[in-house]
Amino acid sequence: MRRMAYNDLRSAVKLHDEVAMNTISSLFFNDTGAMQTSSNALKNKVLPFDRAIHEWYRFVLSFPPHLVREYMQRFSIAPGHVVLDPFCGTGTTLVECKKHAIAAVGLEPSPMAFLASRVKTSWNCSPDALWAVAEVIAREAERSFRQEGLYDDIDQPLFEDRANVEDSGVRMSLSNDKMALLLKDSISPLPLHKALVLSDLINGQPDGLLRDYCRLALAKSLVADIGNLHFGPEVGIGRPKKDAPVVRSWLGHIRLMVDDLNAAKADASTNVYQGDARDPSRFLQPCSVDFVITSPPYPNEKDYTRTTRLESVMLGLINSRDELRTLKRMLMRSNTRNVYKGDEDGKWVRDHHEIQSIMQQIEQRRVDLGKTSGFERMYARVTELYFGGMMRHLAELRPILRPGAQLAYVVGDQASFLRVMIRTGSILADLAERLGFQAQRIDLFRTRLATATQQQLREEVVVLRWPGEKCNG
Ligand SMILES: C[S@@+](CC[C@H](N)C(=O)[O-])C[C@H]1O[C@@H](n2cnc3c(N)ncnc32)[C@H](O)[C@@H]1O
Repeated sequence: MRRMAYNDLRSAVKLHDEVAMNTISSLFFNDTGAMQTSSNALKNKVLPFDRAIHEWYRFVLSFPPHLVREYMQRFSIAPGHVVLDPFCGTGTTLVECKKHAIAAVGLEPSPMAFLASRVKTSWNCSPDALWAVAEVIAREAERSFRQEGLYDDIDQPLFEDRANVEDSGVRMSLSNDKMALLLKDSISPLPLHKALVLSDLINGQPDGLLRDYCRLALAKSLVADIGNLHFGPEVGIGRPKKDAPVVRSWLGHIRLMVDDLNAAKADASTNVYQGDARDPSRFLQPCSVDFVITSPPYPNEKDYTRTTRLESVMLGLINSRDELRTLKRMLMRSNTRNVYKGDEDGKWVRDHHEIQSIMQQIEQRRVDLGKTSGFERMYARVTELYFGGMMRHLAELRPILRPGAQLAYVVGDQASFLRVMIRTGSILADLAERLGFQAQRIDLFRTRLATATQQQLREEVVVLRWPGEKCNG
């Protein structure tokens, strides 16, 4: 019987090597830890020495660990403090805090991102047990493929020697309802079959934490290697893969997890809740948070449920249109696909002159351009709902913060709604001041070229301070 060499697996894993080591030498960090580089693209990359744990599963547009670190240094965050990321996504802030032995709390409604944040901050998993379980699952999967006349990877069998086998033609698939939730052609039939065999074996693993590690590695494999997704940075469909080495890819990602767990040093308590940042008191004690470092959604038509649809459906995290709708209702109204009749957050900003003026400009441009689709008619309303939701979030956050708490919100200017410019950072700072926060400054993180307008859009960090004098709760 052939035994899999650990290091073989590394070549099976598509490491995201966009930042090669030699470019690092051209980077320069100043004494606040800020990255000084002329390259805007580089600023948003995960640096090679930051990859551990962060790379287990990330959104393409997640902010980078070095940005979190920069604000940890600027705010002099140290062990004993508590950091909150109310829009924690895949957990960049939480993981970076844990690496520095700083306690952190995250909120995230999306089940896929919630799973990622939870697993990435659960370091009490035995790396040996994880590898042992993964090896058994991989063997079982390969045996099952062989019985059906399939290979995981015909060129490099994992455990078994190559044999002449005849394809039985048997294929597992998803139910019609689940198939309908996927982006069309996001996964080809044979890789889908193999991923479902693997997924069933993973789901049979009785230990919940080990199972979740295995599921996160499968999510990563689906996005990076198994499915046909292409990120540019919006999610789309790339070249279809007729077949893919499913188990090999998955085991490779497990191997990286095992290595990272073995090397993980600092630690601190991390709590992640599947919740809405506009209702933080459901999860957090009054006066319990010293700092906030976060990147909320922007008003830009980006649908986070689409970006993560393949892995969410494959892992059984979203199973029906109803479940998808329930999730969307918990999300910030940042795109026209999750606006609902009874939405009321707009009332928070009804008297805000700049927001109301942006809404009028968007509506006027829509009329001038003769745009009549349901989505286009919704652009003005989603702008109001977005800022209203952000204001509600900041208002509800106040009792949770300790006096003197400092907050960093990474947000970007947007021109997605008929090219009307929305200065997200400065409006957010203004809303915060109306609620009693001190808007200390707005730092430029980087600029991004908007392809539609060829304009450089600012991505900024809005720095706030909560001046409250004492805790009342
Ligand atoms: C820009 S992403 C954050 C990415 C994150 N910094 C990371 O490291 O992956 C914004 C996140 O906010 C989440 N989100 C949307 N609406 C939310 C809400 N009402 N409460 C909390 N999080 C929400 C989205 O699901 C998404 O994961």
